[in-house]
Amino acid sequence: MPNAKMFPFEEIVVTYKGGVKITLAGEELAWSLQYRPLLEKMRQFQEYWHKPVQNHWDILVTSGSMEACSMVLEMVIDIGDPIMVQVPTYEGILNALAPLIPEFIDIAQDQDGIIPENIMKVCEKRIRSGKPMPKLLYVNPTGANPTGTVLTESRRRRIYELAEMYNFLILEDDPYCFLHFVDSKPTTFLELDSSGRVIRLDSFSKVLSAGLRLGVVTANKEIIGKLIKHMTTTSMHASSLSQMLLLKFLDTWGLEGKQQHFNDVQNFYRERRDIMLSIIEKHLTGIVFYRIG
Ligand SMILES: Cc1ncc(COP(=O)(O)O)c(C=O)c1O
Repeated sequence: MPNAKMFPFEEIVVTYKGGVKITLAGEELAWSLQYRPLLEKMRQFQEYWHKPVQNHWDILVTSGSMEACSMVLEMVIDIGDPIMVQVPTYEGILNALAPLIPEFIDIAQDQDGIIPENIMKVCEKRIRSGKPMPKLLYVNPTGANPTGTVLTESRRRRIYELAEMYNFLILEDDPYCFLHFVDSKPTTFLELDSSGRVIRLDSFSKVLSAGLRLGVVTANKEIIGKLIKHMTTTSMHASSLSQMLLLKFLDTWGLEGKQQHFNDVQNFYRERRDIMLSIIEKHLTGIVFYRIG
């Protein structure tokens, strides 16, 4: 490990919105410039927001959820493996999947997100024909990219039941979780997961900064252990400086401050959504079909 005394930084001062100022100096600065991940705070964050039900879980801080997605897909998929993906699918995921050459099984969405009956039909058909069963379902439960759909509570529960029944993993890529326009935060698959089959990906790109490149994987400890091995041979860990800025944000803003920030982000995008809607109504009524979530 290099000696942080030789890094040419005296202090880093950051001012958050609202005037809160933090200064990184001394030990904290040395910590931020070294190879060390932020963990305990993120475990508390996940406990608070998503309340995992199984107790054999852990987290890994990654360079955004995209890094996490790629690592998970590489870990799980062998060439030709069947996987279920919501369609339309976020392009970044298709790019990450392309070199792995899986067998894509499309799961269609309607206005309430992916359709559980389609998963059931696919699985039943594969059982009847003796084909290998899908290893994994890739889904954005809240604000799916690119459709913006939010899976209803009953569909979330049904899909989890199907995952138990047909034994597939759920890759819950949920970067818009704090950006919904519904009354309260939707239940996540992680919150339903009693058997350790959900790999949840959170991202701070949409609510804090995309350039900090921070995401979090929350999953069964064994899965996290494998991902850590992968990460130590690739990016080593997410930027410590970014992690320190996140840690300070989580500490300084407290639970109420964070909730307020998430509310502000939601209100900001809701206003823009409403402007967009009035323009669509004015110019595209009768020409396009749309539905707001
Ligand atoms: C569904 C989805 N997954 C992953 C990402 C990548 O997020 P991150 O910046 O955390 O890597 C995005 C970014 O737009 C996204 O929409």
